[in-house]
Order: sequence, then structure tokens, then C-alpha cells
Amino acid sequence: MYSPILTVVTLSLCAGLSLAASLPIYANPAAATGDINGVHDPTICKVNGTYYLYTTGNGIPIRTSTDRKNWVAAGEVFPNGAPSETDAYTGSSGTAANLWAPDCTYVDGKFYIYYAASSFGSEHSGIFLVSSPNGLTGWSDYGLVTSSASGTGYNAIDPHLFVSGSEWYLSLGSFWSGIKLMTLDPSTGKPASTAVTSISDRLTNGGAEEASWIYETGGYFYLFTSFDKCCDGTSSTYNIRVSRATSITGPYTDQSGVAALKSGGTEILGTHESIYGPGGQSLLEDSDGVLLIYHYYSTTTSILGINRLDFSSGWPVVS
Ligand SMILES: *[C@@H]1O[C@H](CO)[C@@H](O)[C@H](O)[C@H]1NC(C)=O
Repeated sequence: MYSPILTVVTLSLCAGLSLAASLPIYANPAAATGDINGVHDPTICKVNGTYYLYTTGNGIPIRTSTDRKNWVAAGEVFPNGAPSETDAYTGSSGTAANLWAPDCTYVDGKFYIYYAASSFGSEHSGIFLVSSPNGLTGWSDYGLVTSSASGTGYNAIDPHLFVSGSEWYLSLGSFWSGIKLMTLDPSTGKPASTAVTSISDRLTNGGAEEASWIYETGGYFYLFTSFDKCCDGTSSTYNIRVSRATSITGPYTDQSGVAALKSGGTEILGTHESIYGPGGQSLLEDSDGVLLIYHYYSTTTSILGINRLDFSSGWPVVS
């Protein structure tokens, strides 16, 4: 979710203006209340009727809700600070270390969280894995999953676990050569091979694409990403894009037929009214439908946003 320091403001403004006419009128986020300020890169697991929300931050903050509206603080994944194995990537340590973009999946009675350790603008990044039986405490640390260094050509941040039956996949990436896909060994949660598949790339705007999330429905794999600038208050230009494919490895194309590997991606949510730079998204299958979970900026902070996603046309529409 955090990106290299690049001056893409002018370009992204132009792109936004040219697209504006064809965009739908966005709904405002469903009213969330309680402890929703400062939320960044949200991911939610729902287990036994309780929603567990994890976000970027020191120790990976946890919030819970029983009604998906009111959220209460529930500690951190690492209340005593980041694991020391992340220090080399964050350049920080302990409770001062900011850990990025957690990704929660509840499988076989456990909460699995992949998260990233890096620093702003650096390709020296690591993705790590922990699990817990109750989502709040008792985390088992599986350590480093995959990493990147200067010259790797992609950035090992913004992890997303996609589970398809007995097969596990990890999508990841930010800037450089875009979004990658790896096959994981479900018994370890770590890469099953050294193969790395490119599934999306942005050839313009400095390659500003990250925060991948894959969702399968109706015979398609939908790839959601965030384009443009993540973290700059009301100047944030983040917007949420989608492409789809009939195979998880692609080729993904957007609604206009443009290949995701060639900058494709249909915008489904961007800045509107007083909602600035929505992105860092994840999806949640809830009892009343599929939800888009994201953060956006107000004039004072970043906030949890939740909207419904309607796939009935074959392409997701925010409502
Ligand atoms: C969910 O409910 C099942 C069945 O009662 C229980 O075994 C499990 O521990 C519960 N998990 C959580 C996270 O509440």
C-alpha cells in the first residue's frame, strides 16, 4: 500500500478527469461508527457472528464489531511490538515499527494473517505470516514468507491469500513491475516454488498500482487493485480498479477489454464528494452479500469504508 516517492499527481489528475464522465454516481460508505478513525488497508474476518478488523499500524491494530457498524478497539496482533525479524525491512523495531496491509483469512479454524514489513519507497520488503485460533491472542509466528530487494523488480508488500479448495495462492506487489502471483504450500503457508507470475502491471503513472485482492464468482476471477497515490490526506488519489479472468493466473482484462498487464483496470470507486482516495481494499463475503472494505480520507484522518458490491452484471458495481 505504501509506494515509492514519485510525482504522479498531474498525470493522475488528468486520468481522473477523462474518466469522470463514464463513472457511476458512487454511494457514500455505509455508516460505520466507533473506533474507525486512522483505519488504513483494512481486512476483515467474520467468525461466529463477530467481525475482526485488522489494519496497517504499530503492532497491527485489531478492532471488533458484532453488527458491522460499531467498532471497538481490541488490542494488537503484536502488543509488545513487531517481531525482530521484521526490523531489517522496516528500519525500526518494537512498538515503533509500523506493519503494513494485513490480510486476514479464516481457514480450518484459524485466523491467518499475512502482513508486510517495508519502508516508504523501498523495494527491500518482506511478507510475514502469523495465525491465531481466536483472532485476538495466541499468535503463532511462521516468519518470513517471501521478500524482495533492490533489483528484484517487484515489491513484496500488500499480500493477499487466495484459497481455492486445497490450493493456496499469494498475490502481492506495489509499483515496479506490478502485481505478482505465487503458489503456496498450504501445509506451511510459504511459496511452493520459486515461480512468480505477473498478473497486472501499470505502464503509466510511475506504475502506481498495489493492494491486490482476488475474488472468484460466476466463473471469473476478479482482480481488485488500487491505482495512484495512497496516503496523502485529501490529496490522496487512490482509486479502486477491477479486471477479470477465467483462470487465476490470467490473462486479466478490464471491462473495456484492456489487458491488466497493459495498464487495464476499470475504476469502480474513486474520490467523490468528501470521500478522498478510497483504496487499500479487501472483500468480505457476508450473509447479506459481498462487501468492499477500504479506507478513505476525510479532511482529518483515514476512515473505514464499507459498501456492497453487486456482481449481477458480471462486473462489480459499488452500491
Ligand atoms: C466459533 O465457534 C466454534 C463452535 O462453537 C468454536 O469451536 C470456535 O472456537 C469459535 N471460534 C471463534 C473464533 O469464536
